[in-house]
Amino acid sequence: MSLDVDPTSYWSPFYSHFPHLDRYLPRYESGPDAPTACVIGASDGKFVTPLTTRGWQVIAIELDPVFIDGGVVELRTGPQPITGLRPRLRETATEDRCRVVGEDYMLWRPETPCDLVISSGLWCMPQNRAYPLAELVGRQQSYVAPGGLFFADYLIATNAEERALGVCPEPEELAELFDAALWRVELNTDLGLIGESHLGWEDWHEHRYGAVIATRLPDDA
Ligand SMILES: C[S@@+](CC[C@H](N)C(=O)[O-])C[C@H]1O[C@@H](n2cnc3c(N)ncnc32)[C@H](O)[C@@H]1O
Repeated sequence: MSLDVDPTSYWSPFYSHFPHLDRYLPRYESGPDAPTACVIGASDGKFVTPLTTRGWQVIAIELDPVFIDGGVVELRTGPQPITGLRPRLRETATEDRCRVVGEDYMLWRPETPCDLVISSGLWCMPQNRAYPLAELVGRQQSYVAPGGLFFADYLIATNAEERALGVCPEPEELAELFDAALWRVELNTDLGLIGESHLGWEDWHEHRYGAVIATRLPDDA
């Protein structure tokens, strides 16, 4: 079984450590009920449809209606059609496996925490910078069920300006937010500089990517 991003997503060409989750997923897939995931900043489904088509029940949290229902975004290179999350769920016949939530994840929370909670490049987005990193990470951690997995691609600061934002941590700084009594960090790594240009930042630029995968310890651990 191999895991990859949805190749039809606008965001699919941009780096994610998501495929490395593959080896951790079978532990949630052997029970009688479908495993549950929450994708925070789900956009047009880059991480959602790979999970729904694998049988997961997903909550997709996203604020941008164009990426939820489809439409067009204007780039310098011209109009860019976006298929959208809901159309992708219909195309993959998995609408019944996804609940789409058009809310800010800092103001919402699932009734029941999930087996897997994913974010990618989320904490440093302009709409989230008003919060300290500990609150952004803590909110995402609170979505994870005991025994569940936390996954994030994150950006590490490359200069003083990014460091001053307070939301682009070094891996060691991020690790401090995972209390060893509650979490086992499986992986927390600096992946180095990766160049890209995309909606929201169309000039060619480099991001220093990090990725973290952590297990919330079961209540009886
Ligand atoms: C840059 S896109 C990335 C999409 C794709 N999942 C990826 O990582 O490649 C991040 C998405 O997160 C959404 N987002 C940012 N802050 C959010 C928040 N506080 N709550 C819900 N969605 C948020 C944005 O609207 C945007 O569509």
